[in-house]
Amino acid sequence: MSQLVGLIGWRGMVGSVLIDRMMAEGDFELIEPLFFSTSNAGGTAPPQAKNETKLQDAYEIAALKRCEIIITAQGGDYTAEVFPKLRAAGWTGHWIDAASTLRMKDDAVIVLDPVNMPVIKNALGNGNTNWVGGNCTVSCMLMGVGALYKAGLVEWMSTQTYQAASGGGAQHMRELLTQYGTLHAEVKALLDNPTSAILEIDRMIVAKQRALTSDETANFTVPLGGSLIPWIDKDLGNGMSKEEWKGMAETNKILGLGEGFTAPAIPVDGYCVRVGAMRSHSQALTFKLNKDVPVADLEALIAADNDWVKLVPNNREDTMRDLTPVAVTGTMTIPVGRVRKLAMGPEYVGAFTVGDQLLWGAAEPLRRMLRILLDN
Ligand code: HSE
Repeated sequence: MSQLVGLIGWRGMVGSVLIDRMMAEGDFELIEPLFFSTSNAGGTAPPQAKNETKLQDAYEIAALKRCEIIITAQGGDYTAEVFPKLRAAGWTGHWIDAASTLRMKDDAVIVLDPVNMPVIKNALGNGNTNWVGGNCTVSCMLMGVGALYKAGLVEWMSTQTYQAASGGGAQHMRELLTQYGTLHAEVKALLDNPTSAILEIDRMIVAKQRALTSDETANFTVPLGGSLIPWIDKDLGNGMSKEEWKGMAETNKILGLGEGFTAPAIPVDGYCVRVGAMRSHSQALTFKLNKDVPVADLEALIAADNDWVKLVPNNREDTMRDLTPVAVTGTMTIPVGRVRKLAMGPEYVGAFTVGDQLLWGAAEPLRRMLRILLDN
């Protein structure tokens, strides 16, 4: 009999991408899905339902306890409220979660199986039942350049991110587009006149950006359209944003390095910046390698690492065509390009990578964890 798999948060942005990917990969053929809702219990489940056609109450522990596996993309508040109660009620099933709430707990594994299958298998063997998707920038980065870590070449890495609006959520994407529209409308008449003065357009745009109301910036709190925001997530009070802290903490946990493991952590640090892209995160990476490796060898290692990474030759034409959020969005491809030695010395290497924040950055590792459990 198929395992009963509870699905929570399937209607939201990450959840919808997850359901699409599960459909595309035939996952529903292997499970009996049980759809939960936080607001519409008793309603009709979506068409993927088989025998369980009524929506269950996502806060009802007894209903959740029926599931052998639960996948949630409902968000951190839901996890914080329901997960401890469910475990306290004696539930021993597998919990697969998109939210960050449990990520750094000792009894949770960050799942990114093309990168850390050995860590996952080892934890499975030890009876682990808590599986959490990683931070989107970390997962996309490791899907791209994980090969260099696996080869033991990285002494440290610095990352400068260019993160899309989708990382904030659906409302953030809408706000960005609305701001673009507002700004365009402000200068449309001047734009339509090819002889108008660009500095006049520029003056009007910045005046409008500065005059955006609190409603117009409700999600990002400051203008993003035509600007950028060099702070993502909470202020840790030590000069670091939480998003920046996640870079080192999660990279090492995914790789099985640092605290709780036998090998020491690899330093990862840099700046995380929100830019006006829609849903693909980009990152400029600087590596200090522990030896001088030719660029061609590094490129070959990266290209051979997994089925999704795509090495983009470091030239203008290929870069501009293949190494942008517009090229990547909606695809499973993780392009890595701009690989070159940096002026600081032969062990210093730069690279640039892009990944869809909602696919490899959120939904895909979860459904792949489901398949690992079903195959186990
Ligand atoms: N924290 C990420 C961002 C998204 O704001 O872009 C989720 O990993």
